[in-house]
Amino acid sequence: MNKRITVIIWFCCLPLWLIAATRTAIKIDTDALSLVFQVGDNGRLYQSYLGKRLHLQTDLSQLSLGTEAYITHGMEDYFEPAIHVVHNDFNSSLLLKYQSHETKQVSDGTSETIVTLQDDKYPVTVTLHYVAYAHENLIKTFTEISHQEKKPIELQKYASSMLHFSNAHYFLTEYSGDWAEEARPSTQPLYYGKKVIDTKLGSRANMFVSPFFQLALGDEASETEGEVILGSIGWTGNFQFTFEVNQLGGLRVISGINPYASAYKLSPNEVFRTPDFYFTYSFNGVGEASRNFHRWALKYQVKDGEKPRYTLLNNWENTSFNFNEEKLVNLMGEAKSFGLDIFLLDDGWFGTKYPRNDDHQGLGDWTEIQEKLPHGVGYLTEAAKKQGIKFGIWIEPEMVNPKSELYEKHPDWVIHLPNRDEYYFRNQLVLDLSNPQVQDFVFSILDNLMTKYPEIAFFKWDCNSPITNIYSYYLKEKQSHLYIEHVRGLYKILERVKAKYPNLPMMLCSGGGGRTDFEALKYFTEFWASDNTDPIERLYIQWGYSQVFPSKVICSHVTSWNRNTSIKFRTDVAMMGKLGFDINLSGLNENEASFCKQAIQNYNTLKPVILDGDMYRLVSPYVGNHTSTMYVSENQDKAVVFAFDIHPRYAETVWPVKLQGLDPQKQYKVQEINRMPNARGGQYAEPKTYSGEYLMQVGLNLFSAYSTSSKVIEVTAN
Ligand code: GLA
Repeated sequence: MNKRITVIIWFCCLPLWLIAATRTAIKIDTDALSLVFQVGDNGRLYQSYLGKRLHLQTDLSQLSLGTEAYITHGMEDYFEPAIHVVHNDFNSSLLLKYQSHETKQVSDGTSETIVTLQDDKYPVTVTLHYVAYAHENLIKTFTEISHQEKKPIELQKYASSMLHFSNAHYFLTEYSGDWAEEARPSTQPLYYGKKVIDTKLGSRANMFVSPFFQLALGDEASETEGEVILGSIGWTGNFQFTFEVNQLGGLRVISGINPYASAYKLSPNEVFRTPDFYFTYSFNGVGEASRNFHRWALKYQVKDGEKPRYTLLNNWENTSFNFNEEKLVNLMGEAKSFGLDIFLLDDGWFGTKYPRNDDHQGLGDWTEIQEKLPHGVGYLTEAAKKQGIKFGIWIEPEMVNPKSELYEKHPDWVIHLPNRDEYYFRNQLVLDLSNPQVQDFVFSILDNLMTKYPEIAFFKWDCNSPITNIYSYYLKEKQSHLYIEHVRGLYKILERVKAKYPNLPMMLCSGGGGRTDFEALKYFTEFWASDNTDPIERLYIQWGYSQVFPSKVICSHVTSWNRNTSIKFRTDVAMMGKLGFDINLSGLNENEASFCKQAIQNYNTLKPVILDGDMYRLVSPYVGNHTSTMYVSENQDKAVVFAFDIHPRYAETVWPVKLQGLDPQKQYKVQEINRMPNARGGQYAEPKTYSGEYLMQVGLNLFSAYSTSSKVIEVTAN
């Protein structure tokens, strides 16, 4: 018999599992989950499994092949692809075959798996990267695309990640809103068809929707139950998440830069590296998924994630543009007497020809206004030093008012159309960060300030306008690269800042919470979550951001935007994040002032728990009239519980709040703190002792039905 026929007959007689066993399998593990790929007989890469960790290598051979991992345009798939390229011969197909893979240990607890795929007809290479954080159960993915065709190829789609799910039901939660109403969750089931979440703001990720989502598999997830994925993209610009369910009920999730108006000409040998997509998978509800993100963010992603944070007094809500040296020095003294660490001078300190006395002019001209600051910023840093407080300053270096010397000198540095009327967002335009000269200028704003005034200890870096009037003088025929090159330019600037000033804490602001993404947080210690500081609204906004962001990075300030809430209520809300004040402290009465001083002291003691501990969202403001969140130290010896009666109803029945995350075996002392000096009564005013088990099974009576009010409870293991 012909030898080839013998081999075929022999192969056909093999049991299926043995054929499968011969497949190349790639397994990416964290402590609790596995992501498995296999190479099909056709040489293509398939996602065979994503779920609870599979421990036995032998089980891999039982897995069916699954769905192609990184689906290309132009082949046999009828749904949304991950990648779409157009070759030099205008052929727009791509067929990726497995070439190789390797897994390397990056550090203790972190490994990276790289899978290389190659087209068999065109010299195009795609590498898929999966960085697995074992203990945080989080996987970071990104993709690199390159080629050796003669001339540039065009990338029309270039996803960071494609993931496949196969479940009876899917529930997607998005976090949308607007300026001053950021991160409002809404959940919808996914059926056949496509749901796209994306933005086209250019200079920021967020205004209408946050760059993260929650996806529950099978059933809707609660804080403590259910299978749920949390995903987020690290890109400070246009992003896109696509969720598509096919006719068989399979779901694909494609994440990356929004390819809208962004076809990219990729030169031979240039590597197109997508942004990072991060996801975690919890089998015990959303709370655990959030804690995975928080731990990972502080350990691996956020600038100085494991270092302490400072409290501050900001002058913006208090003085707006109306200040002078004397006023500012007085504010520094007040901040110091309240026990705050930094005085932060906001907008309105610069502009010579066009002084920035309102938001219509001066942006771009970074020299002090003579009338307001005749002795310059140096006088203020000196005054701060004398008062024993650090000094911080606001800049918005990527922007320009058309009424400015900068615009007059360098109109070609500004993104605007050469032949049309300009359209302004907050009376300003965006500088073209794709231009290296502009990158130098933006870097020099901070660098000059630091060189001249090395005592500056903190920056608030703002970015108020999305990109409008989109046209780059610098990019010329490559206009479709602008959205991408602009963000890359921003990162180049921030890299330089970080390299030269590695220990400089910086707050990122973008007209409220426009820049709330994890790539930006590599360079910033914290972000301004919203211009809305009404404490009731903040309970909802902070709840939304807490899905993926740790409390340490969410700036929360006490202001006068208060809807008649007490200073205690406002301070208690702000203490759940990175605490600051942006209020006229001298306008507080004696009781209020002494409450604030005590609360700041409490905060300083409890910072390690609130900012570095584990967060448990106990009662959602979205399901009733009350809300509660707690923080627990890693060793479970200390916890802080915040409880708020938002809109209590007359004669409403209120239920005990069951705590979480404690050690059931330990005994805990429970005591209410942050009490007004004249407060009377209260069940937990005097310390009481309970077991961890009792606190978690029975709970504490923290809610009341009388008025909008709040409680903070300190829980300490005996
Ligand atoms: C933005 C910020 C505010 C403040 C102003 C200053 O709106 O979100 O906090 O800094 O700019 O103009």
